[in-house]
Amino acid sequence: MAPESSLMSLWVCVTLCLSHSRSVPIACRFNGHQVESSLELLKTTGGSFPVGCLEEKVAIPFPASAFRSAGVSEVSDVFAMVLNETFSSVTAVFADGDAPPQWRPSLLEDFHNRVFRLSDDFSPCATTVRGLRGDVKSGFLDRAQLVKTYFDKMEAVLREKKYSFCAWEIVRQETVRTLEFILEHNADSLLWP
Ligand SMILES: *[C@@H]1O[C@H](CO)[C@@H](O)[C@H](O)[C@H]1NC(C)=O
Repeated sequence: MAPESSLMSLWVCVTLCLSHSRSVPIACRFNGHQVESSLELLKTTGGSFPVGCLEEKVAIPFPASAFRSAGVSEVSDVFAMVLNETFSSVTAVFADGDAPPQWRPSLLEDFHNRVFRLSDDFSPCATTVRGLRGDVKSGFLDRAQLVKTYFDKMEAVLREKKYSFCAWEIVRQETVRTLEFILEHNADSLLWP
């Protein structure tokens, strides 16, 4: 074998072997740029939290532990799945009733489509989820429950306040916080192509 071609096979192996050692196929990662642009859209849709809504504010405890590293080897798979739960919940909550007329509809629609696409792109990864070890799986289920409870509370606020402007602003603020938290703490689990 010519030295160049053995060098080439070595290189091919290095590339393949490295990509095989990842526990999840690359397609099962969320695109960080998409998360960033979703966040920007959601922020500009309504601007800063209205002073007139401060009195109506409801404390919804943010489930930070759902997004924290647990130090297990499958942690990236778990994060990807927790993010899937999160983006699915965001899509659902923003489809729940009419958004306030004060928001810029085109930006909101763009935001909604982007977040929907994030979770939709993840749908071929279901086999990865099923392949999780028992303890890793239960770790994921605990985190998913925290995320679900958090978004259930947001939906309850919307219902109780009859989908008022301030109720939607509370939901928007919580969702901005969620996306910011993910970008700040889980950037390593995202893909940055
Ligand atoms: C992503 O989350 C949604 C909502 O819980 C779920 O229905 C779907 O199966 C999840 N997708 C994967 C691949 O786990």
